[in-house]
Amino acid sequence: MKKIGVFTSGGDAPGMNACIRAVVRTAIYNKVEVAGIIHGYNGMIDGNIIEMQSRSVSNIIQRGGTILKTSRSAAFMTYEGRKKAYDNLVKYGIEGIVCIGGNGTFTGAKVFFEEFGIPSIGAPGTIDNDLYGTDETIGFDTAVNTAVDAIDKIRDTAESHDRVFFIEVMGRHAGFIALACGIAGGAELVLVPEQKHEWVKLKNYFTGKNKSPKSFSIVVVAEGDEQGGALKVVEHLKEFIPDFDPRITILGHIQRGGTPTAFDRVLASRLGNAAVEALLRGDKNKMVGLVENKIVLTSYDDAINKTKPLISESLRLVDVFNV
Ligand code: F6P
Repeated sequence: MKKIGVFTSGGDAPGMNACIRAVVRTAIYNKVEVAGIIHGYNGMIDGNIIEMQSRSVSNIIQRGGTILKTSRSAAFMTYEGRKKAYDNLVKYGIEGIVCIGGNGTFTGAKVFFEEFGIPSIGAPGTIDNDLYGTDETIGFDTAVNTAVDAIDKIRDTAESHDRVFFIEVMGRHAGFIALACGIAGGAELVLVPEQKHEWVKLKNYFTGKNKSPKSFSIVVVAEGDEQGGALKVVEHLKEFIPDFDPRITILGHIQRGGTPTAFDRVLASRLGNAAVEALLRGDKNKMVGLVENKIVLTSYDDAINKTKPLISESLRLVDVFNV
């Protein structure tokens, strides 16, 4: 392979820049040219492609967001869009790609290979940590640290007023962020989509003879929880406790930004490097991940379709510590 392309796609995640840097420098180290595709699949379709040098990625390892920009591309979901993207890759002499993103990104890359034969390797970049084949995704650690920092601040005011706070965190359909934040933030309860029937536990905690004696409480709610997020949970609870007066904080996109933690920078650097080396070895249609601190390759099929379970031991800890 003489030239590869790199792009970021889907929701941005802190550490994507460190990964781009690793991809560009590993390619150049191996005497392979590298092009940056701007705005993910949309840039591939529009021919928004730039040549990258080693210095193109100077001073970005510490920056959040993605210098290559990102998008969730509707156009790439059509055959016509993918054909335009293919024509542009041919025009720019790009023979293989490294895509940094999540589920949707890898689904697109898989279809693209099946139709046009462009090989790719994916690096898992999403704060949600919801990909099978890696213990942690790029951005997850930073997002958790950002949320925990917010929870710590909320604890101060919760304690001062003897208040209950429901704090909603991101994670789409998964509860990884919520669970990690719940443990690190000392939450009394954590509601995650992976665990059903938490409603009774929640109700008992605030009502009845087993009501908690604590003067203030933090409940972390995953946005994808079956009850529908923090607003819905509180609305539902108020039906049983009319004078219930908790506060609700939805942390939202603050979790996606900011300086990546050292952990995310190292993870992103290792995965970006491994992605290029795998591509140059002839691997394709796979995601690089870190499992028990070792680089592993997982087929896109498995990464997309298999479910990474929440660590049940950690779920139990929340209950144990809430005595
Ligand atoms: O996948 C990352 C994520 O931040 C999810 O946690 C969240 O549900 C979603 O993206 C939000 O997407 P958008 O930025 O398009 O609103």
